Order: sequence, then C-alpha cells, then structure tokens
Amino acid sequence: DWTMASFKETAIAAVRQQVGSGRVICGLSGGVDSSVVAVLLHEAIGDQLTCVFVDHGLMRANEADEVVTLFRDHYNIHLVHKDASDLFHGKLDGVNDPEKKRKIIGGLFIDVFEEEAKKVGGADFLAQGTLYPDVIESVSFTGGPSVTIKSHHNVGGLPERMNMDLVEPLRELFKDEVRALGRELGLPEAFIGRHPFPGPGLAIRIPGDITQEKCDILRKADSIYLQEIRNAGLYDAIWQAFAVLLPVRTVGVMGDERTYDYVCALRAVTSTDGMTADYYHFDHEFLSRVSTRIINEVRGINRVVYDITSKPPGTIEWE
Ligand code: XMP
Repeated sequence: DWTMASFKETAIAAVRQQVGSGRVICGLSGGVDSSVVAVLLHEAIGDQLTCVFVDHGLMRANEADEVVTLFRDHYNIHLVHKDASDLFHGKLDGVNDPEKKRKIIGGLFIDVFEEEAKKVGGADFLAQGTLYPDVIESVSFTGGPSVTIKSHHNVGGLPERMNMDLVEPLRELFKDEVRALGRELGLPEAFIGRHPFPGPGLAIRIPGDITQEKCDILRKADSIYLQEIRNAGLYDAIWQAFAVLLPVRTVGVMGDERTYDYVCALRAVTSTDGMTADYYHFDHEFLSRVSTRIINEVRGINRVVYDITSKPPGTIEWE
C-alpha cells in the first residue's frame, strides 16, 4: 500500500538511479517545493548536490536570510546565494505588462542561474520542484493550440539552454502531498506549512511598474498582514495570503493632514491545489485591525481594501 514513507524511499532510489555519480544543481526559491526537492536530493546524493538561491530582490521580508540559514547552516547543503536585486530591478524599470515582467524575470533568472552554475564547475543534472498542477496548467487542456494562462517561469527554459537532464521528483504530486513528503523528510514545520510564493515574487503583486520603494512598502504591509494572520491562528486555514500594492493613490486624512498615498489590497484564499480558490471569509474585526495597523505603520499606504474574488473568474495573484 502507498504511503509517503514509501514514496520517499522510492523517490530517493529513483534519484540515485538517475543521477549515478553525476553532479546536480538545484534552484532554491524559499518555497516549499524547491525546499523539499533540495532536502530529498541531499538525502539521496549528499555532496553531489549544489543549490543556487538567486535573490531577485522581489522576496518577502526576511525571506533570503531564512533560506540561507536553514539550508546552509542547518542542513549543511552546499548553497550559493546570489544577490542579484540590482540587476533585476534595473531590467524591470518602467515595465508594466504582467507577462513582460514574467518573461524578463524568467530570462534573467536563467542567466544568473547559469552563470552561478558555471562558477561552481557546472553539473550534469538540473533539479526542479515542478508539481503536477504546474505540468498540466502549462500545457493545452484540449489538444488544440496551447493556451498559457500565466507563464510560470519554473517550468521550461532552463533545461534546453543548459543542456542538462532534469530531475523532477515532485512531478506527480499535488501541493498537500509535497508537504507530507517534506514532513517525512524532517523539514521544519515553519517551511512546510508556508504559503506558496510565486517565482516572480513581489513583481506580480505590484501592478504597473516596479520600484525598490514600492517593494519596500509592500514588504512592510505584507509582513503586518501575515503577522496578524498568524496571531489570529488562521495561517494554516488559509492556502495563500498576501498584500498587493495598487498603483493608485487616493486621498485620506491623518491627524490634520491630507494624505495622498497608495492603496493596499489584501488577498487570502482557500484552495487545495491553486487551480480553483475561494476568498477567505475573515471577520470584520480582523480586517479592521489589519487595516489600522497597515495605515498607521506603513508610510505610503493610506487605504486598505479586501479582495472578495474567487478563482475562477479571478486568479489568485493580481497579475
Ligand atoms: P494564479 O494567480 O494563476 O496562481 O491563480 C495560482 C498559483 O500559482 C502561483 N503563481 C506562480 N507561481 N510562477 C510561479 O512560480 C508564476 O509566474 C506564478 N503565477 C502564479 C500563485 O502564487 C498561486 O499559488
């Protein structure tokens, strides 16, 4: 009978079989999927694995530090941490179109990853945390012309360019199964239970053009929102929650002063696989508390709204 423990053993054996004495490189994003891949591979092939964490400067607050601490210090996994924020921000300057943002980020990600891979002497295999929903949402459902809803940069691109074979141990799994596998592998609960975070990061949570300043504002609002969700004991009941910074300024009052600042939208959904989702029904006291804190504590935001769109017809992200 099928258990996660036996899946783990089978997956480890399959990785060893596929890789032999080859070298594997794995992109770490800080998300659950790539984290599980990294730990699974480390258990399967130890020092034959090198992880590369490309920091595009579009991460949430503290994220980069947490990733480096867990993988390099705790697991002793060989980890390259490349801070490429200036490069990404430079190329994204003035770019408004969501798909262009994804293409630019995806392309740069490949460039930087490839460069870092070369620096460590290359590899024979590339490991990716591709999940089953990634596989099916990126291909045509009808057999007709392929329709891409959103181009997910963690699927495709790298393997062709780098001429390496793919190692994708999660290809048959849904998100909840990946979490179960992570638990089986002893990953800390704080990492396993983490809400998904998209590859393009905050770039697709800031409609319109992206600046360092907007990213900083968004990081602050997002971290207050998530802190309140955790305090209320709601984190695990929600599949994904995040703040969005709208490129709209509205008028407000603060003391005797007129303000003219950005609008922050809050998003929270329940889902099992990200393919469909319902918005989360917070009570109004909770929303008031978050709104008050964000407006009082984050300079640059003077209005907070809550997104009550489900998927479909909306998507989870705003871009
Ligand atoms: P949507 O917005 O399409 O999101 O309803 C479904 C899930 O996918 C994540 N997402 C992405 N993940 N690269 C990623 O790695 C992307 O470009 C991307 N776009 C959306 C999103 O966060 C949600 O979990």
